[in-house]
Amino acid sequence: MKELITLQQRDFRFSRGHILGSMCTQPHPIAKEAYMRFLETNLGDPELCPGTKEIESRFLRFVADLLHAPKTFGGQIVSGGTEGNITAMWIAKQLSGKNEVILPESAHFSFQKIGSLMNIRLKSVPLTKEYHTDVQAMKKKIGTNTAAVVGIAGSTELGTIDPIPEMSEYCADEHLFFHVDAAFGGFVIPFLRELHYDIPAFDLQLKGVSTVSLDSHKMGYAAIPLGTLLVRKKQWLDVISVASPYISSEKQSGILGTRSGAPVAAAYAVARYLGHDGYRRMVKSCMDVTTYTQKQIMQLGLTLVAKPTMNVLGVRLKKPGRVVKKLSEQGWRVNKIERLSCIRLVLMPQITKQIIDEFIPVLKKACEEEGEL
Ligand SMILES: Cc1ncc(COP(=O)(O)O)c(C=O)c1O
Repeated sequence: MKELITLQQRDFRFSRGHILGSMCTQPHPIAKEAYMRFLETNLGDPELCPGTKEIESRFLRFVADLLHAPKTFGGQIVSGGTEGNITAMWIAKQLSGKNEVILPESAHFSFQKIGSLMNIRLKSVPLTKEYHTDVQAMKKKIGTNTAAVVGIAGSTELGTIDPIPEMSEYCADEHLFFHVDAAFGGFVIPFLRELHYDIPAFDLQLKGVSTVSLDSHKMGYAAIPLGTLLVRKKQWLDVISVASPYISSEKQSGILGTRSGAPVAAAYAVARYLGHDGYRRMVKSCMDVTTYTQKQIMQLGLTLVAKPTMNVLGVRLKKPGRVVKKLSEQGWRVNKIERLSCIRLVLMPQITKQIIDEFIPVLKKACEEEGEL
């Protein structure tokens, strides 16, 4: 334990408030409590833990309601956004027998893994000036070998949302499999909509949306590793299932075998504890801090890459790498995005206005030293 604790001291902790570049956060206290209680459970062998299996079903029901899933829905618990995307593309490939995926330039790098793992050809679609998928360009990429189209609801780099209704309508008309990667946005957009932000539907209420993935270990305020892939038709999970003769269930769907019930219990605990009202308050508070941060940054004389859609800001810089290095030397963790010549700030629930007041002078000094201001 001494060795573990010594090494742990090297780690950054969310609770200190200096991590401004991660899409994860410290788990809600109730998530920690639930996680510890379910450490020995194995959802890969569900008959050993029917109670935990029931928790998983109830959690899937919660997520399905949140994303307006039809009665026919199925849900697959995954470890996060990467596995959610891999699983969705696996289903699309199995259902279609085709191997090309059309996706925006802003898609997460997990799709590169998909290309390599599943021998899928990725066809990248350029973005508009607002950093959204260019739908006309997308249509031109679609061909006879298209297995799926991907849209992003909350991009990794800027938190932007693709024109999901338009993409959905086109995919419905053309009978194309349409996956929405809402790993980050899945626990943000429903509440922004409840708060009357002008954001269109992005989920399974749109008839062209086939699958949506969303992560509890991002804005779901739960513990790592936990994501969900919701599929429009439960039977689609059959195409990613195998017979599982050595365990109690007849078949097993998805990539993993043995998997812990602890993050599932944690995610369900937070969902029950916060409910819609709690999540809405949390999202509102993140957006207040985002607006506050945006103002402070602009007052410094810096500009944003795009108007923020959610609690993610891209701050334009000439040499983002150098500023990130300077900030890091001062104990602040921020991401550089060379492709967009910016740094990314993610205003997660642990970030308060007081933390931003501490951060802004450090950012100002780093920018002055590097000739950005
Ligand atoms: C939009 C999006 N999709 C997928 C992922 C991958 O998620 P994970 O790292 O949990 O596998 C991320 C991670 O930031 C993301 O932002």
